[in-house]
Amino acid sequence: MGGEETESGYSIHTHDVIIIGAGLTGLRAAIETVDAGLDTAVISKVHPLRSHSVAAQGGMNAALGNVQAGDSWEDHAFDTVKGSDYLADQDAVELMCKNAPGAVIELEHFGTVFSRQEDGRIAQRSFGGGMFPRTCYAADRTGHNILHTLYEQLMGRELEQSKGSKSGGKITFYEEFFVTSLVKAGVSSEGKSPEQGERCVGCTCLNLADRTLHGFACRALLLATGGFGRLFTRSTNALINTGDGASLALRAGIPLKDMEFVQFHPTTLYGTNILITEGARGEGGYLLNNKNERFMKAYAPKSMELAPRDIVARSIQPEIDAGRGFDDKYVLLDLQHLGKDKIMERLPGIRLISMDFAGVDPIEEPIPVQPGQHYSMGGIAVGNDLATELPGLYAAGECSCVSVHGANRLGGNSLLETVVFGKLAGQGIGKTLSSSGSGVRVREEDEKAVLEKLSEEDERIKALLARDSGVKMAGLRDELKKLMFESFGVFREGKKMEEGLEKLRELKSRYPEVYIDNKSIVFNQALIYALELRGLFDIAEAVARGAIARNESRGSHARTDYPDRDDENFLAHTVYRLEGRGAEGKLDGKPVLEYQPVRLGKFPVKERVY
Ligand code: FUM
Repeated sequence: MGGEETESGYSIHTHDVIIIGAGLTGLRAAIETVDAGLDTAVISKVHPLRSHSVAAQGGMNAALGNVQAGDSWEDHAFDTVKGSDYLADQDAVELMCKNAPGAVIELEHFGTVFSRQEDGRIAQRSFGGGMFPRTCYAADRTGHNILHTLYEQLMGRELEQSKGSKSGGKITFYEEFFVTSLVKAGVSSEGKSPEQGERCVGCTCLNLADRTLHGFACRALLLATGGFGRLFTRSTNALINTGDGASLALRAGIPLKDMEFVQFHPTTLYGTNILITEGARGEGGYLLNNKNERFMKAYAPKSMELAPRDIVARSIQPEIDAGRGFDDKYVLLDLQHLGKDKIMERLPGIRLISMDFAGVDPIEEPIPVQPGQHYSMGGIAVGNDLATELPGLYAAGECSCVSVHGANRLGGNSLLETVVFGKLAGQGIGKTLSSSGSGVRVREEDEKAVLEKLSEEDERIKALLARDSGVKMAGLRDELKKLMFESFGVFREGKKMEEGLEKLRELKSRYPEVYIDNKSIVFNQALIYALELRGLFDIAEAVARGAIARNESRGSHARTDYPDRDDENFLAHTVYRLEGRGAEGKLDGKPVLEYQPVRLGKFPVKERVY
């Protein structure tokens, strides 16, 4: 792993660009920064090919019009804005939808093996909220295909480098490195005080393999760390999705936006909550209650199973509550009528998942499903250039909020966001750094700031490991997840949320006494869980406070006590920050909520009917 060893025994690595997260966003950005000639490091807490993007199933939206002529980026943008319950910023949506066809074709040229039509063009299926075959897919393993393609692209560049190619920058992967903090420093050469002239200059990391601490100094840092689904008991997200990037940003004084908007996917496998793709309904699968009725006709008569996911998720729970579910826990997703050939060709992954994890073969039986957390619409506040308010710090993909999804994301727009905004982030960083000249060194004072931070982090981790009694990490984490699902789930209510926040604060106050039994040096996963847990508490509070303050129902935020959308008071983004420099490193900064206007555009705000 190299790096320079300091007198205090830490390794310090310097790169032009550091990208945290090796999912689709991080890898797509890295291609751009490497091609811009920059020395780029990608840091990931898992091997890149185990990033959660690999689990994305159903596809990626782009108005190619391959199946049905007449699609346009404007129609895609309209569906996205309507799907978002008018909370998305329309200029950002326009940017994403205009770039979509080019992004798919570029992936195809990179080597992604998309499913094809008879005529050889890329196949497309319908997804919720679009009612149009716009979603390009690779069977039901689209994320897997794209992630491997982007990784191969970077491996190719690494190989060229090792053969002495002069073009392009260098790429280094730091796999199984957990980032513990961001580092900021002042711009003393401009004569400003640190507070005025601060920028992000690096981060500190723990190497999972041997528990050594490493410092990273850089000229620009991109957070591409994905979502925070593991804050909830039922989630389609991988265990690694703990909102690390959002918490790192929050602790560095950066605001989070629209955190109360948490997406619940209607069809997750009962028992494990593994994703059962919306593509299954796009291919013609339907939902049944215990009366063998397609109950969606009562909730979205026009769109039925292809209404946006917030609506479908909210339709399942009342069926179960009214005694029309199975075991009071789930409903059925029936694919049998699609026939064996179609299931084997288009949905082979979910067939295997259903057989392996529920003992059900969808060719012969319906799949038991229930809603589960799937996606985080909110995240680190960034502009369309993916820059945060801290110079040198960028964020893109699910950990960010651009905002293109508003109050509810359409299926198929997540993969799109990762590649479009990953690329734009990489290009933006490339342009900014290249304009200050190639070969510019990371400043010595920045390396010093990293070093100082390393010793703080060392103390924090040593203190955690030294505790042999107190509060058991796993129990505390489970309580938090259960609380979040129960108090801030598919349906929300003011009093229940207030009580939830109170309980959350009580759980959070126990965090400083957390201990773990595992003291091992090598791959100490318990230690990582304990470090992640601090961040989960940060995120939980942002979700809770945003949800309590939003006295309306919009998209995924469904209040039983405020069932209507209130455009007069809440057609606005929630901005949440921990106030003051004191937030850094402490469990409790002062939480502050503000609102920011939505950037409207060509699509007037209307009632959402499906
Ligand atoms: O259902 C799915 O395949 C999920 C797609 C998405 O979240 O975009």
